[in-house]
Formats: sequence, structure tokens, C-alpha cells
Amino acid sequence: MAQKTAKMYVCSECGNTVTIWAGKCPSCGAWGSLAVREAPRTPSSDRANSARVTNVVDVRSPERISSGIEEFDRVLGGGFVPGSVALLGGQPGIGKSTLLLQVSGYLARSGANVLYISGEESTSQVALRARRLNAVESGLDVIGDTDLSSALEYMPGHAFVVVDSVQAMRAEEAGWPGTPNQVRAVASRVLEEAKKHEIPVVLVGHITKEGRIAGPMLLEHMVDVVLSFSGEEYSPNRTLRASKNRFGSTDEMAVFEMTEAGLSPVRDMSGLFWNKAELSVPGVALTVAVEGNTPLVAEIQTLAAPTGFPYPRRTARGVDINKLHLFSAVVEKRCRIPSSSWDIYVNVTGGLNLQEPAADLALCAALASAVRDAPIASGSCFIGEVGLAGEIRPVTRFPLRLREAARNGFTQVYASSLQETRVSGVSREKDLRDIRVVAKSRIFEVLEEVMR
Ligand code: TYD
Ligand code: MG
Repeated sequence: MAQKTAKMYVCSECGNTVTIWAGKCPSCGAWGSLAVREAPRTPSSDRANSARVTNVVDVRSPERISSGIEEFDRVLGGGFVPGSVALLGGQPGIGKSTLLLQVSGYLARSGANVLYISGEESTSQVALRARRLNAVESGLDVIGDTDLSSALEYMPGHAFVVVDSVQAMRAEEAGWPGTPNQVRAVASRVLEEAKKHEIPVVLVGHITKEGRIAGPMLLEHMVDVVLSFSGEEYSPNRTLRASKNRFGSTDEMAVFEMTEAGLSPVRDMSGLFWNKAELSVPGVALTVAVEGNTPLVAEIQTLAAPTGFPYPRRTARGVDINKLHLFSAVVEKRCRIPSSSWDIYVNVTGGLNLQEPAADLALCAALASAVRDAPIASGSCFIGEVGLAGEIRPVTRFPLRLREAARNGFTQVYASSLQETRVSGVSREKDLRDIRVVAKSRIFEVLEEVMR
């Protein structure tokens, strides 16, 4: 039976559909973005055959294809899923092509056929980079072209495909690459082919200054996994996270270091933010933060200098300035350590941003130690939330943090007295033999003990 069609208008920015044309999309507010689309109307007699019911018991979990990099696999939730499309976003020059070419090289070395489609670089440029990255393998095929349709014809027979990038490829006749229509068409063609051939595909996407993947908002909804690759301007470290993952959690994080020979995974995460040098200087306190599922030792440094202003200066990097104001008041009021005649500067080393309440106790300890000009007893670590009454509260993921503290050679961890009962089973573990949990209910009790 011939299908009837109805007119619909689709927004090229957000994918919203409307039945009446308007100059402005009613959903995202973009102007001139509505374009006509013929919507198929399925006759009711055909509908009975279009959906199928399957019992969940009969559905097997998908096989995974390892990327060859353990850290990358962890972020993916165990490797690539055949037929899935992952979007890897990041600023230009951050290392997206480098990472994917390395993965392509590993897969090819393990016997898989890999197709690397580059719309940004020529075949010889990609090959040259592959040589630098030690990724020249007979199973690695490269296409340096922006025509997506002809490139995707080579897809069958490959176990893994990279499309670099969604903004550089063309999938529609009209329009420049990178325009919302082209980006949407590239993504939907890639999704279609990935599902059809059951091949995992990674699409590279550039991001805008605001940190969004350039192109229509719809793009992130279309793909199965959204990965972001980011890093600080002057640091060789790059962080990989999943902000969306249909096949795993979005808690995991992996850190890589950009070297002469490409990206290499960083295994000792605490070492990134804390150099383990025992600093017996007033104002320095340590805690164990949790980023995603990764515990890491963080060092809070505080400097207090007599103020020459009517209002003392307070600056904070790596902690919220409001927390600094708040805990200066708590330490002053609850511990009788006045700070109002001191300028106070706080810095968290390694560029780490400590948002969690678990770092409160360490911040208070660093503040008090700086103002008192008394160093904190070596081997101490602080893990606890602090309330306005000066009470110490328990924190989440304590056993994970405690184990990381033990691994890094701390001998005592100050925590909430309400916390200790929750870790009583864990503290008997072999790796926790040398660490003592000092449970306190008020911060002045902690400060009395650590600053002599
Ligand atoms: P690239 O992967 O091209 O970034 P993207 O694809 O995200 O735009 O990486 C670009 C930078 O990485 C470039 O400035 C040089 C640097 N780099 C290295 O330091 N070492 C290497 O081995 C490679 C291949 C690149
Ligand atoms: Mg690139």
C-alpha cells in the first residue's frame, strides 16, 4: 500500500518538529531553522507488525571490543559495543585524533581491520601521524576525504571505524560541512550504517567556546555515548569522561598525558595533584577527594598574612570563595582562632577543583594552621564535612578514600565520630593495617590534636 505523507517542519538546531511553519523555532528559539520534512504516515493496518515484544531473559548483554587502553575501556563501561556510536568531543588540538589513531593502531595490531575516515587531514598526514604514534599496521585503512557516503561504502569488513570529524564531513548535497543540517545528516548516516553493519563507530566532534559540541543540540541525543576530552592550557594532562553512556556509568574518568609519542595513561592519579613531598609548613592540609570513581589525594595550601586593609583580602583557587568566608567564620567562632585581621589566600595544588563537602575539614585545618602559624602533624589526612556548629559530619565513599590514604602512606585520618562505625569492617583489611581513623565530633578537638 502506498504511504500517505503529512507535512512537518524540523528544527535544524534542536530537532523539534512542528506541523505549522514559523520563523522562529518554538522550542529553542532559533530563527530560520525550520525546514520542511515529509513525515511518513503508517496506515493502521501495518502498525501491528512494526513493534515486537521480547522477554528480557532472552536478551544477551552485548559483546565488548576492547580499545586496547584499559583506562579508555573503563570510561566506556568495558569497551566498545558493536553497532554503537560514540561522540568524542573536545577543543581543537586537545588530542582527539591522536587518541583515536592510537586506539586504531592497537586494534589493528590485535588483528582487527580498522577504518579511519579523516575529513580534516589527508591520507598522507594521517599516515605520517600513525608513524609517529607507532600505529602503522597492515589492518589500518585510512581515507582522507570529506564525502561521507563514499567513505562509508568501505565500512563492511572493518571491526572499528573512526569518523574525524562530524563537522568536517559532508552527507548532504547542499550546504557547507559543519552547518547544522550537514552535522545532523552526517550523524544520522553514521548511526544508520553502524547499526546496519554492527560495527562500533567513534565520531569526533569539536566543541564551541561554551563547551558544547558544535552543531545541533540534537546530536548528543542521537548518539549512544558522549565522551569529552579536556585539559588545561599549560598542562600535558588530558581527562576523558563520559557525559552520557547508554552502556555504562558516567562516573568513570581516565587521565592521559600528552607526550612526544602520543597519549599515555596516568595510573597514579594522586601523584598528579600531590607530589608526596612531606611539607611541614603551616597552612598545608591534605584530604582524599573522589573524582568520578577515582579517589585522589588533594593538597590545600593556605597562606595568612596580616592585613593592611579595613576588610581583609580572601582569595581562593580550587575551592569556592564562599566556603572560605564561611569556614573562616566557623574556625574563628568555634575554635577561637580569629582570622579577621588576616589576609587569607587558598590554593589547591594541581589545578584540582574541590567541590565536595568531604574536603571541608581539611580546609578548616589548613586555615587554622595558617593563622596559628603551626604546622600540621605529618602523616595526617582530613576527611569530613563541617557544619556551622563546628561539628564534623560523615561523608560518602569513606572506605574508598581511606584505602587511598593508606596507599599513600598516611598514618592517621581525621573523620567524623559518626563515620567510624561505618568503616569498622573495613579497618581490619590488610592494606589498612598501618592507618588509624581518629574519630572526632567537633573541629576544635581535631585542631587541638594536630597543631601542637
Ligand atoms: P590532535 O590529536 O591533532 O588534536 P585534535 O584532533 O583534538 O584537534 O593533537 C594535537 C596536538 O597534540 C598537537 O598540538 C601536537 C600534539 N601532539 C603531541 O604532543 N604528541 C604527539 O605524539 C601527537 C601526535 C600530537
Ligand atoms: Mg583532529
